[in-house]
Amino acid sequence: MPLRRSKVLVKWLIENQHKFQTRSRRLRRPINKTSPHITPDISFRYDDLRVSLAAPYQLRPKPDVGDLGFGKFFTDHMLKVYYQPTLGGWQKPEISPFENLSMHPASKALHYAVQLFEGMKAYRGKDDKIRLFRPELNMHRMNLAAQRSSLPMFDGEELIKCISRLVQIDQEWVPHSEQSTLYIRPTLIGIEPAFGVQASDSALLFVILSPVSSYYKASSDGAVSIYADPSVVRAFPGGVGNRKVGSNYGPTIETTSKASKLGHHQVLWLFGPDHQLTEVGAMNIFMVYVNENGGNAHLHPIITLLIAISVINNFA
Ligand SMILES: Cc1ncc(COP(=O)(O)O)c(C=O)c1O
Repeated sequence: MPLRRSKVLVKWLIENQHKFQTRSRRLRRPINKTSPHITPDISFRYDDLRVSLAAPYQLRPKPDVGDLGFGKFFTDHMLKVYYQPTLGGWQKPEISPFENLSMHPASKALHYAVQLFEGMKAYRGKDDKIRLFRPELNMHRMNLAAQRSSLPMFDGEELIKCISRLVQIDQEWVPHSEQSTLYIRPTLIGIEPAFGVQASDSALLFVILSPVSSYYKASSDGAVSIYADPSVVRAFPGGVGNRKVGSNYGPTIETTSKASKLGHHQVLWLFGPDHQLTEVGAMNIFMVYVNENGGNAHLHPIITLLIAISVINNFA
């Protein structure tokens, strides 16, 4: 992450090294052995996928790459899979024209934040091929969040195949640009139409696609200015900081707005009396600096249970 005032940063880093763990070697993290038990025979299956294509009049105009921003435009199709125990659990996945959802106003997702989501991307390569980046890690993280939310789990391989088909159908929406990508947002929500803080007996998994450019606003030199306020925490031990559930994100907005008013782009989330580093906005933080011996040092936050399991920063 490029940061402004690099000299100040290096001094601060050296003074605060004890708050990080150092990594000397880059290793790929194997999928955690404590991953939730997925029972493939109750998952939905790609082979059952039904596709209904948008009619020509339903197709949306594609925005110019320069106007994209983040998450403002959506493609022509979406994927939906319902979970209804009375009908035997997961139903057949369906790709259909993009549309609004209709749900009961008492749905648990709307009242108790029984919901979770993922963020992944499809990239158009120089060879014009479209590739997903480590999608199996997103599926793993999504199932961990489903388990923590008492929402139904599924076979990640099957969802990857359904997502690949959706991206293939909307392939012209994958930007022809090195600065932009197609953001993929798989989401799982509890839709049981009943009050009561209990597990939702029914759910909807949907996937929508949005062509995007950079998520982070930065200065003209590409630097991101960060703001840290030790009086607010994003996550705490035993909480859900390491799960991608919406209830982690909404309560951060007030502090992020404050940071913005003070002229900063993002919030550095601290934890504990000694202000341990956790993450910056919606991204993990790691740092590389030149140590006093002239070698490269690589630093990671220590308290990994408070931070999202990163797909990009996939270190062992
Ligand atoms: C809170 C938070 N931290 C870190 C990350 C970085 O994760 P990834 O490496 O998958 O982009 C994300 C993004 O999903 C996030 O929401």
